[in-house]
Amino acid sequence: QPDLFSTLKGNLGSPYFAPFQNDKEKGWIHMRKYVIAGNWKMNKTPDEATALINELKPLVAGASCDVVVGVPFVDLPAALEAVKGTAIGVAAQNCHWEKSGAFTGEVSAEMLKAMKVGYVIIGHSERRTYFGDTDVTVQKRVRAALDAGLTVILCVGEYLEQREQGVTGEVVAMQTKIALGGVTEEELKRIIIAYEPVWAIGTGRTATAQQANEVCALIRNTLAGLYSWTCADDVVVQYGGSMNAGNAAELLAQPDVDGGLIGGASLKPQDFAAIVAAAK
Ligand code: PGA
Repeated sequence: QPDLFSTLKGNLGSPYFAPFQNDKEKGWIHMRKYVIAGNWKMNKTPDEATALINELKPLVAGASCDVVVGVPFVDLPAALEAVKGTAIGVAAQNCHWEKSGAFTGEVSAEMLKAMKVGYVIIGHSERRTYFGDTDVTVQKRVRAALDAGLTVILCVGEYLEQREQGVTGEVVAMQTKIALGGVTEEELKRIIIAYEPVWAIGTGRTATAQQANEVCALIRNTLAGLYSWTCADDVVVQYGGSMNAGNAAELLAQPDVDGGLIGGASLKPQDFAAIVAAAK
């Protein structure tokens, strides 16, 4: 196994590498704002979405992080209505790259913009594995989403075989670089990256905190290479893959883990709220 840290050497000495600040009262605090996003996948009808969000609202009212719910397309109107008056953001789970046209079954970024949806998840491994998304189509979707003014939650992550072959770093760096092709420094401010090892998604098998941090740091290193350390330091890099109420605190305590993309546990308001509470 290659030592991922060896590729990161030098970064810790970067003048801009400052994920923590020493606060006199609180001790060392995480500087980047955490973003906790739920990915509901293909779950919940509109009425169920309203009920879930209504249950969640009081539980996350005092959150010190950004909270987002990623819902199926048909639930977007109900979700947008339910979050009114709160700080909770709403995400779609995909978008097409064309503004309109003969693409049966697709939804454009422009349509999401018209609905006032704030976020869109792009390149989730389930889209890549089951629906033919590639690094190139992911790049096109990212472009369309940014052009529509949306904030992108860009998912990257390796398959188990790739980790076992020792190419995690290469895979994740490649996915990140291609997805961000053409993205400007200014646009990078609307990119959140979710590191989701495919072997950890929905399997109950979480990456260790060290594994998660290594790859999140590697993503930041890749961003520093593409842009600069100043830019890379501001990007929120989430971990996703069987994050739950029990393991969130340890994962989120890592210097390069700035939040979570939560599948299963986001369908349970108490559990999701516990993860939100751990993000401070
Ligand atoms: P999980 O899903 O939390 O159920 O593993 C994460 C995701 O797919 O984003």
